[in-house]
Amino acid sequence: MHTYKAKKFNLPSLEGISDESVKQHIGLYEGYVKNFNAITSAAVELMDDSEKNAHAISELWRRRSFEFGGMRLHEHYFEQLEGGAKAPDTSSSFWQQIAAEFPMNGEGQPQLVLKNIGNMRGPGWAILYWDSVGRCFQTGFTGEQHQGHFVTLPIILALDVWEHAFLLDYGTTGKGKYIDAFFKNLNWGVIEKRFAEVR
Ligand SMILES: [Fe+2]
Repeated sequence: MHTYKAKKFNLPSLEGISDESVKQHIGLYEGYVKNFNAITSAAVELMDDSEKNAHAISELWRRRSFEFGGMRLHEHYFEQLEGGAKAPDTSSSFWQQIAAEFPMNGEGQPQLVLKNIGNMRGPGWAILYWDSVGRCFQTGFTGEQHQGHFVTLPIILALDVWEHAFLLDYGTTGKGKYIDAFFKNLNWGVIEKRFAEVR
């Protein structure tokens, strides 16, 4: 079975999200990578006696996608912040599609839908997907990180709204301020590149 390695991210100091918060958050991400590998090894080992260990194997196998989701979504998340904030290229195909589908706010920003989803009660991820069949974006919310996804659709933008993402800087009621800070630090170039690869 493949063993995954935690990625390193080229992150500048962020505006409104402290270095300490980012450091702890990356520690959590690395935990997902470690746990995914550990669960895989444990489950494979138990398969030596799959009849006796059937229940344990089944539970471990279910947990794998939780850990994998934590790993992969955090990679999407931190990659979006690499290299520092970059404004969207309004001539890009991504932006033209966004402009066709979403109303802009007064500042010319289209992310209100994701902001609203992110602000819903409960931990999880607000996600922008691209549906190449419908030729349109989809926006969704996955509680935890492995359930509620739009199956087969590639992820274009992933916003982490677990409490660990904002508790240190903004307290329990600061999710909205954290989401604002996240968008201020977003490198839209990463988002545009993801879209260009799957459109
Ligand atoms: Fe997170």
